[in-house]
Amino acid sequence: MTPPVLRRALLLAGLALAYSAQASKPLVMGFSQVGAESEWRTANTASVKSAAQAAGIQLKFADAQQKQENQVKAIRSFIAQKVDVIAFSPVVESGFETVLREAKAAKIPVILTDRAVKVSDPSLYVTFIGSDFVEEGRKAARWVLDQAKDGRALNIAELQGTVGSAPAIDRKKGFEEVLKANTKLQIIRSQSGEFTRAKGKEVMEAFLKVKDGKKIDLLYAHNDDMAIGAIQAIEEAGLKPGKDILIVSIDGVRGAFEAMKAGKLNVTVECNPLLGPQLMQLAKDVVAGKAVPKRVTVEEGVYTADQAAAELPKRKY
Ligand code: AHR
Repeated sequence: MTPPVLRRALLLAGLALAYSAQASKPLVMGFSQVGAESEWRTANTASVKSAAQAAGIQLKFADAQQKQENQVKAIRSFIAQKVDVIAFSPVVESGFETVLREAKAAKIPVILTDRAVKVSDPSLYVTFIGSDFVEEGRKAARWVLDQAKDGRALNIAELQGTVGSAPAIDRKKGFEEVLKANTKLQIIRSQSGEFTRAKGKEVMEAFLKVKDGKKIDLLYAHNDDMAIGAIQAIEEAGLKPGKDILIVSIDGVRGAFEAMKAGKLNVTVECNPLLGPQLMQLAKDVVAGKAVPKRVTVEEGVYTADQAAAELPKRKY
């Protein structure tokens, strides 16, 4: 028979072992990414992956290839795998209510990154980390208003992002809100270029072919990749991007700085994709039961072509 003192010592040792195994068990995060549609997205994915590694978080990463159905499937599989926390950047705003209810029922906290969702019950996600897309649209329009200070009229073409996505909806909203201040600034063409270079080029080609007697003076692209695609279309049409057609876009990726340096893009509004480190900290706090803000936004700037050469070497994405 084991003496009581020894029994107690063995019990304590067992408990300590179990506790340390639990403490060293890495936090598991299921992350569903939109896809790989843009330079911005590539930088965002790299930031999430490297930050997870640095934070000792085990990341289960799923690429939705721009399809909501893939994203819903990925979230369901994270729930089935009983991950500690789910983070995702929603392809579109609507249609996530049911799967988010399933995550809540399974007691798995959800963090939205980069893009928001529309849900009737805000408790379906714990927090959101990302940019203020409406403000980005406003910033782009303020630059446009500045170009028309001399009283000239400008015909504007707009390349929208993915239909139904938060950045496409909000960037349009913010831009139009500020643009209203000058009725000589009119959006004469507007279509989705799906946030990709290829589609941006294709839609711009179509815009340039419209025979309604209206010349496009300025292009507003909801992201840099579509602007870069459009630049190609403008050049192939025998026009000078940045001069014959002024161009403002959003993201601030390296490709945009290169285009500005070459005088082909006039301005880019920054949208920071490097959300990884903040996301990992939020995940740790949420899992530890700490209170976190419902919305965490990031500081961003606006860069014009004359700043491009000096800024380019400093860009992190
Ligand atoms: O949600 C952020 C947007 O999505 C970026 O502006 C764009 O480049 C990306 O595809």
